[in-house]
Amino acid sequence: MKGLILSGGKGTRMRPLTYTAAKQLLPVANKPVLFYTIEMMLEAGIRDIGIVVGETKGEIIKAVGNGSRWGIKITYIEQETPAGLAHAVKVSRHFLGDEPFVMLLGDNIIKAGIKDFVEEFVKVKPDALILLSPIKNPERFGVAVIENGKIVRLLEKPFPPPSNLALVGCYIFNKNIFSACSEIKPSQRGELEITDAIQWLIDRGYDVRYHIIKGWWKDTGMADDLLEANRLILEEIEEDIRGEIDDLTKIMGKVKIGIGSKIINSVLRGPLVIGENCMIENSYIGPFTSIGNAVYIKETEIEHSIILDNCKIHLQGRIEDTILGRGVVVRKVDRRPLSYKFIVGDQSIIEVM
Ligand code: G1P
Repeated sequence: MKGLILSGGKGTRMRPLTYTAAKQLLPVANKPVLFYTIEMMLEAGIRDIGIVVGETKGEIIKAVGNGSRWGIKITYIEQETPAGLAHAVKVSRHFLGDEPFVMLLGDNIIKAGIKDFVEEFVKVKPDALILLSPIKNPERFGVAVIENGKIVRLLEKPFPPPSNLALVGCYIFNKNIFSACSEIKPSQRGELEITDAIQWLIDRGYDVRYHIIKGWWKDTGMADDLLEANRLILEEIEEDIRGEIDDLTKIMGKVKIGIGSKIINSVLRGPLVIGENCMIENSYIGPFTSIGNAVYIKETEIEHSIILDNCKIHLQGRIEDTILGRGVVVRKVDRRPLSYKFIVGDQSIIEVM
């Protein structure tokens, strides 16, 4: 079976971080979200993967390469406009051919992976198998209505939601999905929705089945969700300390520290991960924090946050629930008048005490 990962889109819900980076390359526990999706495919035995790319094509190809690092084949498929998930399926027709394929959204992480899901499809051979997750706020997603054990309706972001079953961004289809994607019309948001394509199959009596997910699933398309995915992944890390820790530093819980990093007179309370070549001095790094490479932190407390490469933080204060893009500087200065000074890009969020 081939795999299709969708990694186009503008990531508007994740601005300003996505002005300068593809949303699928934002890191969770210091690994790009897209790598988790590739590894989920791999674990399910899928080794021939197409990645649909858009505006951020260059960056994605640079990060992922030809797949040799995982021993798989990766083909890039261009989607000129982000015109919806069903549109992405249409432009991938040539790559996919007539065999069934599994499609995964490049910003979705599924704890249990997709192996069971793929195996179920191979055993039952329906026209489509969709993955559902019972959640609290399904109105942010596609929502499924089940009656007598069958899917009768799928709605995209309905309010109020008719059930608590959200459509996880993972689907397996046979070639009938191509007719569905060609027949449907754009939705109110102007996109060809995969939800509508699946409804088209249901309405015409095709065999569409569902699989309810075990464990958590995160669509990392919004800042709070990225932090939450980071928390969930860090809960499972193993200790691996390769940097230098001085005698005054205290470490509790599971901590990962990369080569070339130095920790001086600090408290590290895991689970947390610190990349390579960082310098952390007189600071506290708390649970559920991921710090990228070459980050400098002095006299600062940080918890439940994601700090990307090359940031410099010297705050003499505490930071929580924060995502800092690459090369951000946050510092305390002694200067009159006592005022805040901000030089930040569009759509940044700053909360002060
Ligand atoms: C898309 C799908 C939606 C699904 C969601 C999962 O939404 O349209 O049905 O529940 O992915 O992440 P989008 O991210 O395009 O708003």
